[in-house]
Amino acid sequence: CGLDWLYVALPVSAGRGADAVQAMRTLHLAGLSVTMPHKASVLPAVDRVTEEAAALTAANSLAWEGERVVAHNTDGAGFVDSLRAVGFEPAGRSAVVLGAGGAGRAVVHALGRAGAGSVRVVNRTATAAVAAAELTAIATVGSPEDAAEADLVVNATSVGMDRPGGDPTAQPLPPGVLRRDQTVVDLVYTPVRTALLAAAEAAGAVGVDGVGMLVHQAAHAFGHWTGLEAPVDVMRRAAEAALAARG
Ligand code: ATR
Repeated sequence: CGLDWLYVALPVSAGRGADAVQAMRTLHLAGLSVTMPHKASVLPAVDRVTEEAAALTAANSLAWEGERVVAHNTDGAGFVDSLRAVGFEPAGRSAVVLGAGGAGRAVVHALGRAGAGSVRVVNRTATAAVAAAELTAIATVGSPEDAAEADLVVNATSVGMDRPGGDPTAQPLPPGVLRRDQTVVDLVYTPVRTALLAAAEAAGAVGVDGVGMLVHQAAHAFGHWTGLEAPVDVMRRAAEAALAARG
């Protein structure tokens, strides 16, 4: 984009999120990405909280709006963009969302805003499923078997993630649930091609990897910071190269 800008990681200790917002003002930083454990604690320190960030009680990016610092949550918009990028329009469609953590909540909320017909939330811990389902009128708590009937299945759990203590061969659904004509999104992107995506494609479903949401949520943040349209294809290639370099 011809911008002489830097995007760097700044470690911020737990409990110091509000100080980081103050530093954005003091140092005239163009914006901040916000990661755990600061996603909620930055909210009282900004001048405006968007509807998405307020509903999710979580910000993932801060940007200037004139003289004001605004807390955004771009995960849901990024998720919906990643669906539309593969030709899936969520309006009127049925969805099952596996997981009710930060990512799952953003997906449930965004599907409601995008006009989905129904959302079933499935989660190991029932109380979190109930809380996520309360984010939109079209959501209810469901069970894994509901995935068989859904147009869209989204894994927003960490099951299948290749990380210390994780099992990259694990899947968040019992075998045999997925079928043709479904779109199956796995938000796990380490590895990019997960066991769930392999199972989805073996069943004849369309598999969508988690790099799409990762890139599209970042594209929204980039737009808030720069006022420019993000070069999504360049970002996707850079993300894939970085993930491949990690092995
Ligand atoms: P993120 O911000 O990526 O959504 P998170 O907030 O830690 O991460 O949420 C992780 C999700 O994965 C949760 O829905 C969690 O279920 P619980 O609410 O029961 O903790 C789910 N999850 C993690 N490990 C799991 C496992 N082994 N089996 C089933 N669900 C799991």
